[in-house]
Amino acid sequence: MNDSLIIFDTTLRDGEQSPGASMTRDEKIRIAKQLERMRVDIIEAGFPAASKGDFEAVQAVARAVTDSTVCGLARAVEKDIDGAAEAIKPAKRGRIHTFIATSPIHMQNKLRMTPEQVLERAVWAVKRARQYTDDVEFSPEDAGRSEIDFLCRVLEAVIAAGARTVNIPDTVGYNLPHQFGALIKTLRERVPNSDKATFSVHCHNDLGLAVANSLSAVLNGARQVECTINGLGERAGNAALEEIVMAVRTRRDLFSCDTRLDTTQIVPASRLVSGITGFPVQPNKAIVGANAFAHESGIHQDGVIKKRETYEIMRAEDVGWTANRMVLGKHSGRNAFKQRLKELGIEFKTEQELNGSFERFKDLADKKHEIFDEDLQALVTEADLEQENEHYRLVSLKVCSQTGETPRATVTLAVNGSEKQADAEGGGPVDASFKAVDSIVGGGGQLLLYSVSNITTGTDSQGEVTVRLEKGGRIVNGHGADTDIVIASAKAYLNALNKLVTPGERTHPQAGQPI
Ligand code: KIV
Ligand code: ZN
Repeated sequence: MNDSLIIFDTTLRDGEQSPGASMTRDEKIRIAKQLERMRVDIIEAGFPAASKGDFEAVQAVARAVTDSTVCGLARAVEKDIDGAAEAIKPAKRGRIHTFIATSPIHMQNKLRMTPEQVLERAVWAVKRARQYTDDVEFSPEDAGRSEIDFLCRVLEAVIAAGARTVNIPDTVGYNLPHQFGALIKTLRERVPNSDKATFSVHCHNDLGLAVANSLSAVLNGARQVECTINGLGERAGNAALEEIVMAVRTRRDLFSCDTRLDTTQIVPASRLVSGITGFPVQPNKAIVGANAFAHESGIHQDGVIKKRETYEIMRAEDVGWTANRMVLGKHSGRNAFKQRLKELGIEFKTEQELNGSFERFKDLADKKHEIFDEDLQALVTEADLEQENEHYRLVSLKVCSQTGETPRATVTLAVNGSEKQADAEGGGPVDASFKAVDSIVGGGGQLLLYSVSNITTGTDSQGEVTVRLEKGGRIVNGHGADTDIVIASAKAYLNALNKLVTPGERTHPQAGQPI
């Protein structure tokens, strides 16, 4: 019988560490519910010590999820471990994941601790976490660049102290697949009590090798993989969940383990994460990219029609690619709307919230006759965004764009309740709208990214816009959706500006180790 490969999803923690990918509590709950529906084993819901908001978000996920284990990350310090324990308390099954760096470069320059101090602290942290739960995971951060003898000593000691899972991170994405696989094999052979813990891996994608390294580790005995939807994560990202899961399943002939995932939930999860974070999925992305199952050249099409296996190693429907299915329309009632959202894991806290969203749905159904699940997700995201601090709110936008003429925009904003209007010219209607907004708000941040994608297909599809701004070292993403992409752009810009006016102090888990 095959072993089980545990899938540990860290979209809500490491994924959220991508610049601008921060999520609200409600967004985290929606993603967590989708991960649960996909039967992910463990959901790392966040780093509770980052801020009060992060603590509350982890706690809310712990309350909302019942089938997956909910995990909180903690540095090897008392306040983090105690905070993580408190945040995961409501979970049916909770895990504390504590870590400390073990590579010479991190110990000397970041921690300013000797290896003996690090070892002692690692053991202390695991013991402290074990006071709260039996399910404790330990990570020697930057294991991929740590000295093997020291790594073996640390792992032996933390397993003896009660860590049930030891996770080997390639924190900076430095390792090559054969090397990383060999590292896992060596650790399992050399650590005397290695059979008392599950070996896990956590690979970053700086050299584009996160998935290859993770799979090499699995072939060498790792039985937990840490990964994220769409490969979201710090810098170049983490190993993509969908690629790991489908590689193991498709190449059953090579892997002596499998996951318990419902793979048909992969594409909906990918779309949800992309919609919420505003990180688009490239069309040629494996498994979840729009072209992943598209056959262009005639010769391929001919082969697929005759026998699909000639060019297809997986079935599109097995990963959740079904044609957009119309779920609701203009004549759908409030109950049908509420029921479909419930099926998508979205429940309203108050009647008022339901009524507000239903009104938006009716407006959208007037403009766009067929409403898909993706439209409903975007609609709820929009409603959530409006509830966030609304320092600036779009009252109206008029644009004039004509061949041979300079585009002009007139924008009316409610700024802290009072209305202000401005107009501006620009290179295009979006540029003119942003300039008009700037002249009201007095210049926002520096625009790092502007991207538009369509939520479904067809020219009546809603456009989903992401705007990334940077101000004083802080990076925020703003989102907006509308059937009119200029309005969607203005909403996204205002959403980003609203985030910049809210204080956003958060501690980064890997920035340093408070002693
Ligand atoms: O990349 C890393 O080392 C991490 C640890 C906190 C596990 O994210
Ligand atoms: Zn990481």
